[in-house]
Amino acid sequence: MVVLGIETTCDETSAAVVERLPDGRGVIHSNVVLSQIAEHTPFGGVVPEIAARAHVEQLDRIIRQALASDGYTFGTIDGVAAAAGPGLIGGVIVGLTTAKAIALVTGKPLAAVNHLEAHALSARLIQDTPFPYCLFLASGGHTQIVAVRGVGDYVRIGTTLDDAIGEAFDKTAKLLGLPYPGGPQVEQLARRGDPQRFQFPRPLARRDNADFSLSGLKTAVRLAAERIAPLSETDVADLCASFQQAIADTVFDRVRMGLASFRASYGAPTALVAAGGVAANFAIRRVLEFAAVEAGTKLVVPPPELCTDNGAMIAWAGAERLACGLSDGLDISPRARWPLEEVSKPTMPALPLRGGS
Ligand code: KG4
Ligand code: ZN
Repeated sequence: MVVLGIETTCDETSAAVVERLPDGRGVIHSNVVLSQIAEHTPFGGVVPEIAARAHVEQLDRIIRQALASDGYTFGTIDGVAAAAGPGLIGGVIVGLTTAKAIALVTGKPLAAVNHLEAHALSARLIQDTPFPYCLFLASGGHTQIVAVRGVGDYVRIGTTLDDAIGEAFDKTAKLLGLPYPGGPQVEQLARRGDPQRFQFPRPLARRDNADFSLSGLKTAVRLAAERIAPLSETDVADLCASFQQAIADTVFDRVRMGLASFRASYGAPTALVAAGGVAANFAIRRVLEFAAVEAGTKLVVPPPELCTDNGAMIAWAGAERLACGLSDGLDISPRARWPLEEVSKPTMPALPLRGGS
């Protein structure tokens, strides 16, 4: 089954062609991602109206490129998938409406994919990852620990009570005068800094759940920076290193709790899967590795281009859903908010999936 996938929920315009083989393996035929970072950088963050306009201007070309790079046409794909939310509604409308038009004209099935579900299933695109597994999703908009029990079967174990982890990196970077997006900048500067110089809080540490709270940490960085201003280069590097250490310690503590909670409810997970832009952070990957080993499981992290927003994960989630007999009507609405638990489950037995479902 060959599916065209479209992603437009935030500041990446992306289209991809992905194949799901009968044995459940995935093949990426193309994955074209156009980042709008340059358009948003002057504003220090994503501007929804600019994002929506950029998607309108670029999407047709990106789709043509994604199809043509491996010789596909609208006639030779088996289905079309688009992220129908959650995300910035202007962008979501652009992607979903385009997918509906393609489905209508070609008569191919439509899969309106939840963007978080696509992150959740992306590990299965690159390697055999049977259900159930524990997902740690950390991006600019989301921080969640989720039990992934099957296609359309997700239970949230933990979430953030305020800022997402990527957002905490971005806001910390901004207050230190670093450009958007802040995560990679903070990680780079942290390499030269002293992670012990500032003792920032580890919010909710050892609390008996798997939730996060990060807004206090960002405030602590601001207060420390104000106390020692003007900041030298060393000060900025030390603030970045101490902040990143606090985040990494927090991730370790919260994911550990999440894995324990997973085991208590669903037995041993087949893997701890990390996804979202923050999974690119090396310090965070290291603590995830520790947490996985301690819980007697393995860590699976898709390559960076599949961790950040991309069309291939949308195409793949669409293919997994279509393979279970799930497709959507042309009357489906785009959604700015769409919790994972509200994603529909197959009502019929799924086709045999590699590793069971
Ligand atoms: O998943 P993503 O590409 O987009 C969404 O937010 O959905 O994630 C982007 C986020 C940004 O907040 C960015 O600062 C963060 O991921 N990020 C990082 C790193 N690379 C990207 N955060 C920490 N360390 C990194 N190396
Ligand atoms: Zn995302």
